[in-house]
Amino acid sequence: MSITFSSFSSNHGEIKCFTIQNKFGDSITITNVGATITHFKIQKSKNELIDIVLGFDRADNYFQNTDTYFGATVGRSANRLNNASFSLNNQFFQLNRNDGENNLHSGPNGYQIRLWKNLPYDTDQNTITLNLYSPDGDQGYPGNLNISVTFELTDNRELIITYKGKSDKDTVFNLTNHSYFNLNGHDSGTIENHELQLFAENFTPIIDSHSIPSGEIRPVKNTPFDFNFPKTIGQDIKITNSQLLYANGYDHNFVISNPSFETPFAIVKGDKSGIQLEAFTNLPGVQFYTGNFIINQHGKENSIYDQRTGFCLETQYFPNALNLENFESPLIKANEECITKTIFRISI
Ligand code: GAL
Repeated sequence: MSITFSSFSSNHGEIKCFTIQNKFGDSITITNVGATITHFKIQKSKNELIDIVLGFDRADNYFQNTDTYFGATVGRSANRLNNASFSLNNQFFQLNRNDGENNLHSGPNGYQIRLWKNLPYDTDQNTITLNLYSPDGDQGYPGNLNISVTFELTDNRELIITYKGKSDKDTVFNLTNHSYFNLNGHDSGTIENHELQLFAENFTPIIDSHSIPSGEIRPVKNTPFDFNFPKTIGQDIKITNSQLLYANGYDHNFVISNPSFETPFAIVKGDKSGIQLEAFTNLPGVQFYTGNFIINQHGKENSIYDQRTGFCLETQYFPNALNLENFESPLIKANEECITKTIFRISI
């Protein structure tokens, strides 16, 4: 177990990178720009190290990470809010519209392009914690919110991400990580042949191509959304289905059947690498997104990423839950700490 550190100055401030390595030789690299995962390298065999997340080489790119959100911490309200507004305690809040009429991932000046502060650490540690203070009124949200995100890489090949939030007013706390995985390697093309098992009996259909859930909870049975038995991501992606057409592929919130740290909600296998990823969370939903909007994006090591070259499992409260009473509320009470957690476990 070790942490190595590098830093350089920029006109945005000091850019820091922390790399945690486990006993297998796997490592994750986190930058303070957006509390972002830039690399997740898996020691597949003695001579083979595979980086399974999409990303950039340059810090500048992370300060402009407002379209794809590669590897970023997203909040305080991940995903979409209808009409960029909500009401809380009889007060109406109008946020910025950065996705048509709606709000996506909390709007402009998101957490993913800010410089987070790190807690002190020892070099033999396997965790790094980054903090962000988000003041009352930040992006239109109520409450001075103190956030910490801890990234841990264990000797069981688990990446554990723990989110903590506490505010002086009732507010929203719905943070996620927006890593795009390609288990064959970040620069190895389509993820459509990866095999996916997603333990979700239901999903939350969207109204139209603006991708706002209607509030309906719909069974996946006999639809392309049924991944309860393993199938490749691409098997049904081109089937004529209005939900798939609206989103140009999968970009939907699934209702996790059994949120838990004991049983995974998803198991994904890289067809070429044999690397397997299991995901666990205590959150009720996951946005399964197949990178439908990645177009000719210049990434790490001179790679070009295109549509469906990465997939995301964004654990979350359901999108637009602030406006839909039947969706579990992403609100936290004033002065109460909220903790959520997501685990990605690797095996080969
Ligand atoms: C996802 C969202 C997609 C897309 C993506 C960023 O969370 O569901 O529709 O906006 O972020 O490109």
